[in-house]
Amino acid sequence: MTKRIFAVLNQKGGVGKTTTSYNLAFAFSSQGRKVLAVDLDPQSHFAISLGLKDTDLSGMDSIFLDAADTDQYIINQRDGLDILPAGYRLGEIEKLSAKGKKQALIVRNALDSIKHRYDTIVIDCPPTSGLLNLNALYACDEVIIPVSSDYLALQGLSQLLRTLRNVRKYMDKPMKIWIALTRFTGRRRLSQEVRDRLLKYFPHQVLATPIRENAPVAESPSFGMSVIEYSPNSHGAQDYLALADDITQYRTMKA
Ligand SMILES: Nc1ncnc2c1ncn2[C@@H]1O[C@H](COP(=O)(O)OP(=O)(O)O)[C@@H](O)[C@H]1O
Ligand SMILES: [Mg+2]
Repeated sequence: MTKRIFAVLNQKGGVGKTTTSYNLAFAFSSQGRKVLAVDLDPQSHFAISLGLKDTDLSGMDSIFLDAADTDQYIINQRDGLDILPAGYRLGEIEKLSAKGKKQALIVRNALDSIKHRYDTIVIDCPPTSGLLNLNALYACDEVIIPVSSDYLALQGLSQLLRTLRNVRKYMDKPMKIWIALTRFTGRRRLSQEVRDRLLKYFPHQVLATPIRENAPVAESPSFGMSVIEYSPNSHGAQDYLALADDITQYRTMKA
């Protein structure tokens, strides 16, 4: 099994980054993979959505601020699914300006010490473009950009892709960029239009399964569950399982 490290990233808020992170993390673990969920958003919604509701946890914040060892913060949350929490002080990091490359490599170095234990790592990113996201980009091999199917969705996407390509060039490492269509309403012309345009401009990067707008997807985090556990027969569960299959079977670093 090849080890895969994904960052779920888009500077826009509310596009389904966290929703995609925890449902994919759960879907990958249900494929029998050992998964680590890394919560890089100070709001801690990744961990909360998987049922880790403790608000005084430490995690990525101590790794950044105190140069602490990673291992002690990892929490086993499900069979084959561990969480590295954001920690309640992670918000302080975004206020720091990056001082040299060392600060941008903190997450990557933190993961280096523990990644041998996992098949798949999923990093949920904050809706900003500061030091945390820069760290996520250095730490990952693949970026998943959730794009919601509304009329402002495409705005900023070309710019984001351009920035990511420049970052990749600057970082001088391979990095795959995938686009996941979220909050898709098949009956709405607008959703279809967004999908058509994405397929036209980025045919090789758009993941095959659009995630449909679906009430159980919005409800499941308040129960601390992925939609796959909360409502296994829902569209949301079907879509996220299909998205995970698509990624593991057909989308590789070579694809
Ligand atoms: N497929 C979906 N169907 C219904 N609600 C969704 C869906 N995807 C996301 N949402 C809801 O949209 C809101 C924003 O999603 P979220 O994942 O938190 O976005 P982000 O992390 O990008 O800010 C949340 O309330 C979430 O429950
Ligand atoms: Mg989020």
